[in-house]
Formats: sequence, structure tokens, C-alpha cells
Amino acid sequence: MLIVHSIAELRAALAGRGRPAFVPTMGNLHAGHLSLVQLARQHGDVTVASIFVNRLQFLPHEDFDSYPRTWDADCSQLQAAGCDVLFAPREADLYPEPQTFKVQPDPALADMLEGHFRPGFFTGVCTVVMKLFSAVFASTGGGTAVFGKKDYQQLMVIQRMVQQFALPITIVAGETARAQGGLALSSRNGYLSAEQLQQATALSQALRQLADAARHGRMPLADLETQVQGLLRAQGWAPDYLTVRQRSDLQIPSVSALGSDPLVALGAAKLGSTRLIDNLEF
Ligand code: PAF
Repeated sequence: MLIVHSIAELRAALAGRGRPAFVPTMGNLHAGHLSLVQLARQHGDVTVASIFVNRLQFLPHEDFDSYPRTWDADCSQLQAAGCDVLFAPREADLYPEPQTFKVQPDPALADMLEGHFRPGFFTGVCTVVMKLFSAVFASTGGGTAVFGKKDYQQLMVIQRMVQQFALPITIVAGETARAQGGLALSSRNGYLSAEQLQQATALSQALRQLADAARHGRMPLADLETQVQGLLRAQGWAPDYLTVRQRSDLQIPSVSALGSDPLVALGAAKLGSTRLIDNLEF
């Protein structure tokens, strides 16, 4: 696996190697990331991963400084997973000057749910992803990028960005990898104590409960959402949201849509000081 740091080195490394399949990450890799790399290998001529902890998508009180940086382990895992090129820009490679141009996502999609609780998050994500896309794909005429469904709203925002800017990039979605008990794998699971790791399975269980009850129209959706949030709260969580949305646009479904339309239950909640997110398509 070739490791490059600057955009120029990356473009030189990709020259003549066909269409890249790209997996952007912030490092601290786990089996979920590696499954995205495996998926990428089926979708391109050369598999590229990036590791960059993107300052722009963290709020001042969030964990940018303490975000786990596990360079050696990440490199060996990527190598073993069959990644061909690792792009690991330094801050000055991606942000050589203050990033005053930003990619502002559609507020109808980006200002709710995660964007409501983490204002500016999706602007930071879109801005860095646009730069990463430019670094990887500008000299190759396009390719494929792989994003995990674990960050469901992020995946949708990126899909819309690619579509609206007519970028020559196909977005492929990877399924969420889960630990035993259903906990979605996440770099932030590393912040949890052994006891909290046991408790953390309650989030995916609550989403399952919410999805089942919503499908069967047991009570008005808003009441169901309040009820499952209450159940989590009783177990020591501080939920931001647990909600059912249309898969197409993340808007609130109509009563008739609850019976059979493609829906997704999304949740975000804090366990101690660790904020976890998860979702369930149904
Ligand atoms: O999902 C992530 O790890 C990040 O949001 C991404 C897409 C790498 C952008 O920094």
C-alpha cells in the first residue's frame, strides 16, 4: 500500500491506474470501515482510502482534540484489507489557508436531525468531502466513493451534493457493521466503559421497537417517539432524537405511508458523555 500526504503525490500515484474507488475516513478504523474498503475493491480499478480528522465538522465543545488517532493500527488494517493507496493529508495539505469557501448543503436535508443538534456539521462534512473528491477524482475523470449507512443522513447529503453538482462520482452505500447484541460499530464506542458497552445495545433495540410499533400504527408516531425516548431515558440515556422518517427525503411520513413505504428509524443519544447514532431501515 502506497501512503501519500499531498494532493500532488496522490494524483501522481493514481495516474494511469484507472478509476478509483474511494473510502473517506477519519481513522481509528474498525471492521465497519474495513467492510467499506472490501466493498470499494469491487467497484474500481484502484482502491483509495483517506484518513483525515476534519476540524471543520466539529463544534468547539466536541471531541476534535481527543478524537482517537491510531495511525499504525490503521495502516496495517488498511494494508490487510487490500487498500492500494492511503491518502493521509496533513492539515496544511487540505487547508493551506483558512477555508473561506464552503459547501453549504440544502437546509431541507441538512438542518434537521444531526444538523439540528450539530449546527454546521454537514457544511464541514460537505466541504471536506468536496476537497477529498477533488483530490482523488479530478485527475481520473471520476470514479466511485463508498459511504456507510451508519451515518445515514450524511450519506443522503453526499448523494444530493454529488447529484446537484453533477460530479462524475457514483456513491455506493455500505451496510452498518454491528457487534454482538446489535451495537453499531463506531470509533466513538472506544469512549465507552465495559458496562456502557453492554448498555449501548439498547439504542438499536429501541430503534427496532420504534420501527415495529410504527409499522403497525399502534399510536400516533409522535407519541411512539416520545415513548421510546422515555424508555431510553429511564435506562440512563440522554436522547437527542429517536424518530421515523421517509427514506427518500428524511421528512416525517404521512399516516398512510407508515403501512408500507420505505422508512428509516434514526436515533442519536448520549450515554454518559458519549454521543452515539444509529438507524434502521424498514
Ligand atoms: O464519516 C466520516 O468519517 C466523516 O464524516 C468523513 C466522511 C470522512 C468526512 O470527514
